[in-house]
Amino acid sequence: MKVLVVGGGGREHALVWKIAQSPLVKEIYATPGNGGICREAKTQCIPWPGSLEALADFASEKGVDLTVVGPEDPLAQGIVDVFQAKGLKAFGPCKEAAQLEGSKAFSKDFMKRYGIPTAEYKVFSDPHAAKEYIKAQGAPIVVKADGLAAGKGALVCRTLEEALAAVDRIMVERAFGDAGDRVVVEEFLTGEEASFLAITDGEHLYPLAGSQDHKPVYDNDEGPNTGGMGAYSPAPVITPAVHQKVMERIMRPVVEGMKDMGHPFKGVIYAGLMIKEEEPKVLEFNVRFGDPEAQPILMRMESDLVPALVASIEGGLDQVEITYKRQAAVCVVMASGGYPGKYEKGFVIEGLDQVENMECVKVFHAGTAEKDGKIVTNGGRVLGVTALGGTIKEAINQAYEAVERIYWPGVHYRKDIGAKALKRLEGRGGPGAC
Ligand code: AMP
Ligand code: GLY
Repeated sequence: MKVLVVGGGGREHALVWKIAQSPLVKEIYATPGNGGICREAKTQCIPWPGSLEALADFASEKGVDLTVVGPEDPLAQGIVDVFQAKGLKAFGPCKEAAQLEGSKAFSKDFMKRYGIPTAEYKVFSDPHAAKEYIKAQGAPIVVKADGLAAGKGALVCRTLEEALAAVDRIMVERAFGDAGDRVVVEEFLTGEEASFLAITDGEHLYPLAGSQDHKPVYDNDEGPNTGGMGAYSPAPVITPAVHQKVMERIMRPVVEGMKDMGHPFKGVIYAGLMIKEEEPKVLEFNVRFGDPEAQPILMRMESDLVPALVASIEGGLDQVEITYKRQAAVCVVMASGGYPGKYEKGFVIEGLDQVENMECVKVFHAGTAEKDGKIVTNGGRVLGVTALGGTIKEAINQAYEAVERIYWPGVHYRKDIGAKALKRLEGRGGPGAC
């Protein structure tokens, strides 16, 4: 098979790395790829050809059998529809179904319509009306840009002043561009967060291993939200009881609801959950693999991913089995100083050669590029250093051992990735060494 992977972040590196291991796959194209993706086995990077149509033409010319779309933007723009119209197979939801992530207002209305547990909310296209509602509700409260904002459009406001300023930031100053045409103002939920991902073919559902992201930029969940500063899998907060509730009350209703609306959902459904006393509520839906969650999940995955991707498109997901290593995996994101705000690019990354041969460690590249034979920083999130360990603690230690050998000026990473899992697991043993 020839596979095309769309995207150039850590998630796409993990996908390419995993897909390259499939005996079914002979050749991989990645666009635009990054410094790490382009060095993977079987893989060739091509520059972004400029439009979805041009990419579909490329896939046709090269005889690509399967296209795997990493990020949300092309999905929201309808890449799957464009490819389908040319008789090409692309993994992910169609444009209509991708609205589940592309519009928070759509997603909240969908949840309300199909009885999926989520925070109380109201949608506004007028900043004054939004502010009046916020004043009546009081703080803490959450203000979200309706459209896509690279994971940064949800503003959790502790005070009334912050919430009123958030409306101005999104709707008046247009910090997230057109994504701020409307805002969703939402009840503040407490509990512990987790990411629950499942693959679906529009009919059947296959849950993936649970994981937990770390969205805020600083330790102890302080500072502004980012795309994600680290993740681990499995997530002990997803107990068997929670798992069952999520499948019955959230995942199954998404599949049924999307079918009911005439847009069967194919691809990955990612529910960002807030869990309190084993009761899950949805914070948001994403319509693709999580980044960085994909890194630890795919590092743990033992079986071939490709048959599941194909079955999601062609149907028959009930015939596929996905198995995992018993070990835990932890991914620590190393970011450019200043991210998620302004940051400089182009620093040479030192130490990559020292971690290349570390057992149980894989460095997934995100914002990197190759320049004069050297890997340089080229984005906000730069690397996802991912390690397997017999226990979460071992995986954490392995990951940080590798992180400490890597350096560039201004590098920033959280020092507490996985700490919440450790707290939950205190006193419990783990399953064997890496
Ligand atoms: P979202 O992009 O909607 O997932 O929001 C990003 C982050 O903001 C989440 O991972 C949570 O940490 C936080 N958040 C979003 N919605 C809420 C809410 N209703 N209550 C509390 N925190 C929230
Ligand atoms: N890690 C959060 C996301 O993928 O949106």
